[in-house]
Amino acid sequence: MAIETLVEWMKNSNSTVVLTGAGMSTESGIPDFRSQSGWWQNIDPRSVASVESLQHHYELFREFYQMRIEALTNIEPHIGHQILADWEKRGLVALIATQNVDQLHHKAGSEEVAELHGNIVTIRCTSCVKPHTIEHFLNNSVCTYCTGKLRPNVVLFGESLPQEAWNRSFNEIQNADLVIVIGTSLEVYPVNQLPRMARGKLVYINLDVSGSTRQFDLVLEGSAGEVLTKIDQKLALF
Ligand code: OAD
Repeated sequence: MAIETLVEWMKNSNSTVVLTGAGMSTESGIPDFRSQSGWWQNIDPRSVASVESLQHHYELFREFYQMRIEALTNIEPHIGHQILADWEKRGLVALIATQNVDQLHHKAGSEEVAELHGNIVTIRCTSCVKPHTIEHFLNNSVCTYCTGKLRPNVVLFGESLPQEAWNRSFNEIQNADLVIVIGTSLEVYPVNQLPRMARGKLVYINLDVSGSTRQFDLVLEGSAGEVLTKIDQKLALF
């Protein structure tokens, strides 16, 4: 019944925005952050993913992101990513605002993607900001222009979000008739404020819906891949 309701909202919506988190990528084989098998179970994020670690513990910082980048080897988008990309092509999704840094939405073919936390797939120099290849970073090279330290274009704890991605997500969420939030614990500021900006219907899809979901009009419990497949099947019947 809940899925039918959502399908009806999707059909009637002039603008639908999807907000994704790490739970969108777990079915592709990438761990999330705060679940039992998540990155932050055994690692303190501030010790590796912060401005402090970049500036004062660069080797630890680099090794952590090397591990994260290498964990993406042979990783492919799953059916859920593909369904979202297909919905964009069919005019059913206007924007994916994502906290994910793995670019799996792009890999699946989505074009309208706002990377709220940047990505770990592209690299820049911390000093002169010039781009470098991922191999340069993995080989522990310094910047070829100014010998500065290299880093991924990811948002670290202590940094602001990319202005353009934030403004676009904020505006499109505010103006959307429907916002679908998938696979995020909504624990991280400021992205966890975005659902509150929604003036249209607000939907939550997550494996674990045991926390407070009062702000949502509809809650669907299950894995992103499974739930999106069910929605897509119902859409086909409409
Ligand atoms: P979390 O690890 O905090 O939350 C992931 C959520 O996805 C949890 O609520 C899980 O229950 C849910 N989940 C896991 N697998 C799922 C699946 N297959 N289908 C549906 N739901 C599933 O990750 P985020 O909320 O994305 O920041 O974390 C936000 C930010 O914290 C990340 O972007 C990262 C981290 O520090 C940066 O890297 C800057």
